Amino acid sequence: MSLQGKTLLITAGPTYEKIDPVRFIGNFSTGKMGYAIAEACAESGAFVKLVSGPTNLNISHKNIERIDVMSGEEMYQACASIHAHCDISIFCAAVADYTPKHPSATKTKRQNDELTIELVKNKDISAELGKVKKAHQVHVGFALETNDELPNAQGKLERKNLDYIILNSLQDKNAGFGFDTNKVTIISKKQVSPLPLMSKKEVAKEIVKLLF
Ligand code: CTP
Repeated sequence: MSLQGKTLLITAGPTYEKIDPVRFIGNFSTGKMGYAIAEACAESGAFVKLVSGPTNLNISHKNIERIDVMSGEEMYQACASIHAHCDISIFCAAVADYTPKHPSATKTKRQNDELTIELVKNKDISAELGKVKKAHQVHVGFALETNDELPNAQGKLERKNLDYIILNSLQDKNAGFGFDTNKVTIISKKQVSPLPLMSKKEVAKEIVKLLF
């Protein structure tokens, strides 16, 4: 029960960015990693505010409050209102980097041979909250990389003012989106610690250990 008395913010799952009332831009995140971390933190005594994009997952634990959101902007608003009261924030969500600039209020009809959708950048939740992080607050982020994994992840650690970044490589078999297993490297300013392939529940426990 070593996170007893701590309040955590955890983001999980994908975000859906509306194109029109029936279509969206999304990604393959299932939310499994974030939900496993939420459960492991709650098990160790923390109170968890789980800000979740759309997933098929269920979670019920007396210490977990789930806040459902749809878009990156909604996720940002929910996190910004909670963050100041949290001791630890873990940014596990696969937030869409871009969102349609002018989502249509009506269903887009099939007319022209080509269709261009203008996109604008979503807010970077971890970077924005990194700017207002207080000395007593700890931030953990994830980096999903396909190439130049270590320098890319170290760059994000710096840019987003994170204390730890958990690197996932899409080059590793049985790791990442949809799998129940994951192979991660835990990176801090001082250390790079590769872990073997393990279940997402075990990875979650390793992350909890960082926070004791
Ligand atoms: N993140 C976030 N808000 C965003 C984008 C990312 O909070 N709008 C967080 C993720 O939850 C993760 C970390 O930032 O903890 C890194 O996410 P990732 O998608 O790997 O990186 P990006 O900053 O989006 O960079 P890129 O897509 O260029 O690799």
